[in-house]
Amino acid sequence: MKNIIIAIDGHSSCGKSTLARSLAEALNFTYISTGKMYRAVTLFFLENNIDYKQPVLVKAALDKIKIHFEDQGSTTFLNGKNVEAQLVESMVANNVSPVAALTPVREEMVRQQQEMGLAGGVVMDGRDIGTVVFPEAALKIFLTAEPDIRARRRYDELIGKGIETEFEAVKKNLTDRDLMDSTRENSPLKKAEDAVLIDNTNLSRKEQMAMVKVLALERMSA
Ligand code: DC
Repeated sequence: MKNIIIAIDGHSSCGKSTLARSLAEALNFTYISTGKMYRAVTLFFLENNIDYKQPVLVKAALDKIKIHFEDQGSTTFLNGKNVEAQLVESMVANNVSPVAALTPVREEMVRQQQEMGLAGGVVMDGRDIGTVVFPEAALKIFLTAEPDIRARRRYDELIGKGIETEFEAVKKNLTDRDLMDSTRENSPLKKAEDAVLIDNTNLSRKEQMAMVKVLALERMSA
């Protein structure tokens, strides 16, 4: 069985991280959420009042940012501090798309992601993993679902975490992010030609996981 790279890309809030995390666990692979890396960079800019529209300030700040994961990828650390809870806050969610569109930010994050996945045995989720970070990944999945379903899932998740929010605000945030992520100049969100498209609007987590696991085992033994 080969230690392959599995890329899971797709729209906001369609369950990429849930799928990627369970798949990594089932295969004993490392799970890496690249969205959390862009969120951590955004948090750093916000906390340090860095005007991210100024390229010089962005480049200087990137040298001061160290991100790592613990607990099988489920806890994110920014400069040694556990920031997991802050990454889902609305201030971060509302600023992450413009930050993730900045060329120096993408270059540095892509470099770090390539380093993290070098040895294989990795499930990485994001927007450009199959197209830019690992175009040679052995398995690429492109996940999507209807916007209302995605907004409902994200809303329930936030409420479950005790974060007060409005359904309409959650829906607007994710449709705005989809638009910005898909139309930006630098590595826009798009399906890689050789990615397997899965629309999980009417799929249970279990059904979706079973489909992807079959594909992964197939590619690992190819
Ligand atoms: O997966 P997520 O919702 O946590 O991602 C947060 C934002 O980061 C999302 O709006 C798009 C951006 N992102 C990106 O541009 N490239 C990636 N590989 C992952 C996320």
